Amino acid sequence: MARKIIIDTDPGRDDAVAILLALAAPQELDILALVAVAGNVPIARTESNARRLLELGGRPDIPVYAGCARPLVRPPITAEHVHGGTGLHGLDLPEPQVPLRPEHGVDALIAALRAAPPGEVTVCLLGPATNLAMALVKAPDIGPRIAEVVWMAGARSEGGNVTPAAEYNVHADPDAARVVLDSGVPLTLLPLDLTHQVRLTDARLGRLRQIDTAAARAVAALFSGADGAALQGGLGGPLHDPCVIAHLLRPGLFAGRAINVAVETAGSLTLGMTVADWFGVTGRPVNATWLNRADADGFFDLLFERLARLA
Ligand code: RIB
Ligand code: CA
Repeated sequence: MARKIIIDTDPGRDDAVAILLALAAPQELDILALVAVAGNVPIARTESNARRLLELGGRPDIPVYAGCARPLVRPPITAEHVHGGTGLHGLDLPEPQVPLRPEHGVDALIAALRAAPPGEVTVCLLGPATNLAMALVKAPDIGPRIAEVVWMAGARSEGGNVTPAAEYNVHADPDAARVVLDSGVPLTLLPLDLTHQVRLTDARLGRLRQIDTAAARAVAALFSGADGAALQGGLGGPLHDPCVIAHLLRPGLFAGRAINVAVETAGSLTLGMTVADWFGVTGRPVNATWLNRADADGFFDLLFERLARLA
């Protein structure tokens, strides 16, 4: 039985890889919907990119909804310097043919969770948690209905990537992060501590370029620009968001620990910092599984094998 998932996303170059990986797993994943969120680029681009990517992946039937156009409290922080003005720097996809669904993404999330039997739907967060937080506030009954929230978010040992203390998805909407962390939903976090181990190095890029499918060519295009392979000192671009999907497909690729994670929502220097209580010194209750060890070679074997299938 394929696992029902909803992907909440701000595509975004690495989001694009995650979406293509999910599309390449039709036996294992039943994608109910994509819900776009304001993040790397504004909502008008993230929702359009979501539709373009589904059409690239041959699944225009999957509904796309636009969610929140800004964080719960703070002004939007975008990341065009990483993802380009379109959000898909290096990849030029045609205008989407399938229209955006008219319902708001938050309402679509609530409706989908209420329509499915409790414990059957996994929510994959690839951007700021604004939509899920808003849904939990608007409809608290959906919390116990969620099988698992799997979220690329946070940083501990690595420090942040948008400030020295904070990772982007949390920093962009720290208040939403707090709602999710305090909600009691079964939560798995994939922080920079994990995703910085998963880099598309030049050698891996060479393997990718051997795969003759449109999906593989799209991923190569997204990560081949001057800022692609050379990201962060030539180590290669970290594939943050695809780790969320890989966790669903092959959970043995990653390991970590059940701990308490809190978030700074008031600091000036540390706003959006995830305070991961790895040694249990605070006595605060466990609220998340924090994954921080990755089998990077195993991840790329999975990714490349799946991209080769997605014609
Ligand atoms: O910090 C990495 C995260 O921020 C990824 O989800 C990337 O797409 C950006 O949204
Ligand atoms: Ca993202």
